[in-house]
Amino acid sequence: MPITACVFDAYGTLFDVAAAAREAATEPGREAFAAVWQKVAGDWRLKQLQYTWLRAVADAHTDFWQVTQDGLDWALEASALDDPELRELLLALYFELSAYPEVPAMLAALKQAGFATAILSNGEPKMLQGAVDSAGVAALLDDVLSVQDVGVFKPHISVYQMVNDRFGTTSDQVLFVSSNGWDAAHAAGFGFHSVWVNRAGEPMDRLPWKPARVLCDLTTIPEIAKAN
Ligand code: LAC
Repeated sequence: MPITACVFDAYGTLFDVAAAAREAATEPGREAFAAVWQKVAGDWRLKQLQYTWLRAVADAHTDFWQVTQDGLDWALEASALDDPELRELLLALYFELSAYPEVPAMLAALKQAGFATAILSNGEPKMLQGAVDSAGVAALLDDVLSVQDVGVFKPHISVYQMVNDRFGTTSDQVLFVSSNGWDAAHAAGFGFHSVWVNRAGEPMDRLPWKPARVLCDLTTIPEIAKAN
């Protein structure tokens, strides 16, 4: 079946998750943080994701804002940064992450070609709205789907099912795009035409399913959607 809906992961895929720490590191007086911001950003993201998987397996769901704060607290302590003001600054910046530069034109091309477009994210709805608004892409998205509605994080199957329920699609009509290798793999397992955006050149995750394609950015997504 031809693709009718193009669905995107949010954090790391449309929105640059490292932007909050990178921006905070450039502020005057933040020299100590500037020396370690990349480690903090990496630890923050990894712990945030680990906590989502652990909470999903343990049937202990909470919202993504909580695991975002928990991951940050772990990352700050790991770098011996006991600085409540820095913590507040990083969380505020996380609420208004920048989109990657190619995102607005890519979404506009999909809309122009008649595809349905949406986000499917672990994000809590207010966080997602903050990022969508600050990136100025609200008008280019038909919907912003949050796991909050099913009460479990990715990669639970009920999360991917939200797309077919919303758009009346069968899985093979959905192009799903994620920068998280594990998310792209599970989406492929669900039956979506799955694309992994591997900006960092990471190895493929060793999981039972593989994405149909691997890209280094989002520029060619409209061509891929039209060709399938
Ligand atoms: C999301 C995370 C996994 O947006 O990036 O769902």
